[in-house]
Amino acid sequence: MQDKTVSGFSKWSKEEKVKWLAEHFFVDGEAYTEELSSFWHGNIDLQRILDGFSENTVSNYIIPYGIAPNFLINDQIYAIPMAIEESSVVAAASSAAKFWLNRGGFKAEVLSTKKLGQVHFTWKGSPDKLQAHFAKLELELRKETAYLTTNMEGRGGGVTDIELRDLNHLEPNYYQLMVSFETCDSMGANFINSVLEEFAQILKNFVSRQKAFTAEEKQVKIVMAILSNYTPDCLVHVEVECPVDQLKGACEEMDGTTFAEKFATAIRIANIDPYRATTHNKGIFNGVDAVVMATANDFRAVEACGHAYAARDGQYRSLSYCEIENGVFRFWLDLPLALGTVGGLTTLHPLAKRSLELLGNPSAEELMMIIATTGLAQNFAAVRSLVTTGIQQGHMKMHLKNILNHLGANESECLQAEVHFSDKVVSFSTVRKFLESIRNYKGQPIIVTRQ
Ligand code: MEV
Repeated sequence: MQDKTVSGFSKWSKEEKVKWLAEHFFVDGEAYTEELSSFWHGNIDLQRILDGFSENTVSNYIIPYGIAPNFLINDQIYAIPMAIEESSVVAAASSAAKFWLNRGGFKAEVLSTKKLGQVHFTWKGSPDKLQAHFAKLELELRKETAYLTTNMEGRGGGVTDIELRDLNHLEPNYYQLMVSFETCDSMGANFINSVLEEFAQILKNFVSRQKAFTAEEKQVKIVMAILSNYTPDCLVHVEVECPVDQLKGACEEMDGTTFAEKFATAIRIANIDPYRATTHNKGIFNGVDAVVMATANDFRAVEACGHAYAARDGQYRSLSYCEIENGVFRFWLDLPLALGTVGGLTTLHPLAKRSLELLGNPSAEELMMIIATTGLAQNFAAVRSLVTTGIQQGHMKMHLKNILNHLGANESECLQAEVHFSDKVVSFSTVRKFLESIRNYKGQPIIVTRQ
């Protein structure tokens, strides 16, 4: 069997890596090599920056970058950049933005901006004894890390709270320092982790120096020091509202009241049933992640936090809510979002930098509002389709292009397919059959042109 393991891979040049992959994993190694290199950026300096983001890079992975215009958020208009591969997400966001543009737009508000981190440690002794020394420890933690926190404090942030948590009842001898941070316009992961690792060392030293402690009590075992991606108090609220009769345009076949009630029922179902809630929230993250990606923020952190928040009362539920009261339809979303608009890759990634410019170089709080709005818009569009036409109609129309590309359709065949499928069900096999039929057609050539 051919040996597919390797040592020293990370030290090889990109060309050497590609050569090895081509030789060991592909029957068409030459074509593979060509494909990978075709996605290298022509600008060598830029490619060097991209390569610096990660390890063992052999190419760039391209996904579409689209714009959803016409978002009215707190009386300001935005064209929102979205990096996403799924058909119809950008179209859906755009259509929801347009729908709410003439109905007062989206109103967003940042409720809190607290980030969290923890030092997890074990200590053998009476919890009261440790607690009795905590005030002195806290002073030392703050003083000894001033060299790390002064800059952030100058920007209005820093360490806002340190709490000693006794968790002996869950795990023998287990404690935490639960630390709260304000990181202003940066996501703050590096800042938080640097402070926490330093806190861990200071804690260890502090305990080892306490004269009142026995030899055993002088030992703290640090398990780990790391930020928490669960930031329920880094929260943004966004909502739309209008009288139900203004919802008439949401669906051709329904009046505003019927639509509003059906829509609200769908939202309640997502609140009750975790199976539906998961798909419902996935729809919200279609919008959220796309903007998080387009601005080079950490979508894994955002997703992890959002889903944990959705399960905060012990059951996984919808992140959005809807009510109809006194003839007014209100639809809203509360979402924890830990984001940055400075630092990280936000200015290093050329398109992320442009995304932020497009959004008017927002503060982290403004970006929270923009991203939560995109999530709510996406959710509105998805649920509107679900309770009216179903999503396949719009989705498969967009997906038609992917199927046609996959089947190697030329421009004329694509145009014929668009016309043919304008009132028919799109599936891989129906499109293939249609292409076969026009390719085998022996009559007069059919000419279809774009209007
Ligand atoms: C598809 O990517 C997202 C939806 O399934 C969301 C939803 O069901 O609410 C349409």
